[in-house]
Amino acid sequence: MKKLKYLLFIAQAFLIGSLAAQPYKPSPGIDVKVNALLAKMTLDEKIGQLTLYTTDWGSTGPTIREGYKNDIRSGACGNLFNSHTVGFVRELQRIAVEETRLKIPLLFGFDVIHGYKTIFPIPLGEAASWDLEAIELSSRIAATEAAAAGLNWTYAPMVDICRDPRWGRVMEGAGEDTWLGCRIAEARVRGIQGKKLGSTDAMLACVKHYAAYGAATAGRDYNTVDMSERFFREYYLPPYKAAVDAGATTIMTSFNEYDGVPATGNKYLLTNILRNEWGFKGFVVTDYTSMNEMVNHGVIADEKEAGELSLNAGVDMDMQGAIYQRFLKQSLKEGKVTQKQIDEAARRVLRQKFELGLFEDPYKFCNEERQKAQLLSPEHRQAAREVSRKSIVLLKNDKNALPLQRSQKIALIGPLADNKSELIGNWNGAGNADDCITVAEGLKGWNVTQVKGCEMEGADKSGFDAALAAARNADVVVVTVGEKAMMSGEAASRTDIALPGVQEELVLELCKTGKPVVVILMNGRPLVIPQIAQNATAILETWWLGTETGNAIADVLSGAYNPSGKLPMTFPRTVGQVPIFYNERNTGRPYNPESKWTSRYIDEVNAPLYPFGYGLSYATFMYGQPVANVSYTAADTGKKHPKSPVTVQVAVTNTGKVAGEEVVQLYVRDLIGSVTRPLRELKGFQKVMLQPGESKTLTFTLKPEDLRFFRRDMSFGSEPGEYDIMVGGNSQDVKTVRVRLEK
Ligand code: NOJ
Repeated sequence: MKKLKYLLFIAQAFLIGSLAAQPYKPSPGIDVKVNALLAKMTLDEKIGQLTLYTTDWGSTGPTIREGYKNDIRSGACGNLFNSHTVGFVRELQRIAVEETRLKIPLLFGFDVIHGYKTIFPIPLGEAASWDLEAIELSSRIAATEAAAAGLNWTYAPMVDICRDPRWGRVMEGAGEDTWLGCRIAEARVRGIQGKKLGSTDAMLACVKHYAAYGAATAGRDYNTVDMSERFFREYYLPPYKAAVDAGATTIMTSFNEYDGVPATGNKYLLTNILRNEWGFKGFVVTDYTSMNEMVNHGVIADEKEAGELSLNAGVDMDMQGAIYQRFLKQSLKEGKVTQKQIDEAARRVLRQKFELGLFEDPYKFCNEERQKAQLLSPEHRQAAREVSRKSIVLLKNDKNALPLQRSQKIALIGPLADNKSELIGNWNGAGNADDCITVAEGLKGWNVTQVKGCEMEGADKSGFDAALAAARNADVVVVTVGEKAMMSGEAASRTDIALPGVQEELVLELCKTGKPVVVILMNGRPLVIPQIAQNATAILETWWLGTETGNAIADVLSGAYNPSGKLPMTFPRTVGQVPIFYNERNTGRPYNPESKWTSRYIDEVNAPLYPFGYGLSYATFMYGQPVANVSYTAADTGKKHPKSPVTVQVAVTNTGKVAGEEVVQLYVRDLIGSVTRPLRELKGFQKVMLQPGESKTLTFTLKPEDLRFFRRDMSFGSEPGEYDIMVGGNSQDVKTVRVRLEK
């Protein structure tokens, strides 16, 4: 019965979630209403709609500065963030709709990144599931809960491509790959915005951080970005566009510069590309005081100029900077900006308030019963458990150490085994650590002896002896180690991405006991763990899984769930290899370990520790030779167009003893292009469940655009010539078939 209820819940979530999939267009009739309202508004009231302030929930609970309250009353602040829960939101909304002249309701924004109260895996972890339905469901539930707690706007999805694990914010995104990143961006927008804006469980999505924030030089947060337009358009830009094409209604600028101009004042990004090329009809918000920070960037002299640069570039709303509020009127007087620009920005913001239905019912997200029923409901927890176990990646499993047997005596070691506080990870919405299931709790009922061994940080090894004694006394050691949750996320870049403290030493000591050692990693980024990779018996990458951590990990340890996750980001051997990513180009001197004068290091191989797309299963899979139908004969030369898509078939067989799910990945390489092309690029994947001995033939369809790229003249199209199509279980172990596009 419980299961049936859960399945019905999932079916419903998808009926709602999967319909919207086109760029946002104002609903019929909206602009008439917006224009009628605009006609009544004073300049100050219009500027108020472009102003967004935070409340102080994070530090002092549900409180707001008196000055901001007055700003709401006077119409000088039209939007808030970090205010949530029904009672608090209702009170603030009441001020807006009862005490202001025009009764314009407020937007309420919040960073709902991987769950509101029911916390799901960090986004990088969910990306490892390669399960778009699961990711959409996670976003759907996050939005449903957040909208039940008074919120109507979330600062998600974060779609920044990143090839540098030193950057703490890799935990918030989908990893290094553009194609996977695009699919995940779409899934999240669908999940957040639901079937229709205006439903009580749908929120405005905010795609961030536009643009190329994930390419911060040296992985240092907020740092400058520098890259060619070719790389920008090819690797970094597509996920933002995918999110816009999926209907995202708002977009956030980034802190970094692009091509020498800070993103918040960058007209090329915000007007030329976003509005003119893509036809984006939603509104643009800055990141937190990023408008003010343009003074530090050194492209304008003061904050007033920052406002002018931003509005002229295409920014509609100022997050926390108070620049529009303080200076825009004066800028208008001086002719530095126009009334039309201010009207248009206000129009874009008001449109979304109408889309949400806030003018009909400003309290529509303020229903105490709904809040009570939705937050942390059994169905949401069950979904979190399922998404969590799908996000786990099995990195190593020597001698089939996993799954564990019920009869085994387990030494459960490590600082994270009974820890709750770290499990919800960074950017954890309104999640409570106390609601999390620990690994020890997940293993309740098993024969477990638990010893901490060491802390996550510091040099204290006094706990090692007890841990080693417990290990010697057990059949198998399960050791939980990782980063602290706050070691990734915003402003949390690291130069050393090994395990902090003496945790690695503890693991290596445990390995010396000769007992099988299963390492459970909890972290927000790829880690450098070559010693552990070499010495441990089994390794599970579990990221930060959220509320259901312990249950999901126990499901995998016990074999109740057979892991199927695959890495969305390369794991380096050493931080000196960073940035390291799978879709690199060949160079003129491709890697040759025998020859010094090739593109290599003298002290380390080029290969990563674990490549992109890598992950094992308790089953094993055998790939047949892929076969292509080459009915696709014409390249995109401008005159001729491809006749039909290329289809590639591959047989995959489960050669193991248990049923398992494999993520079958398809990569493409254009052998000779007018510009250099990556050695492989992901262009498709399918998840397939196979019983032991079962074989299935999968068909991949490559659409004409899958073979297109920015050619030498920056036009986007395919070129005649040979392409390798590669299929495999990760980005390195692939089987290849060659196809030819003709003139
Ligand atoms: C700064 C972060 O960069 C952004 O991701 C977030 O949405 C805002 N702060 C609001 O919290």
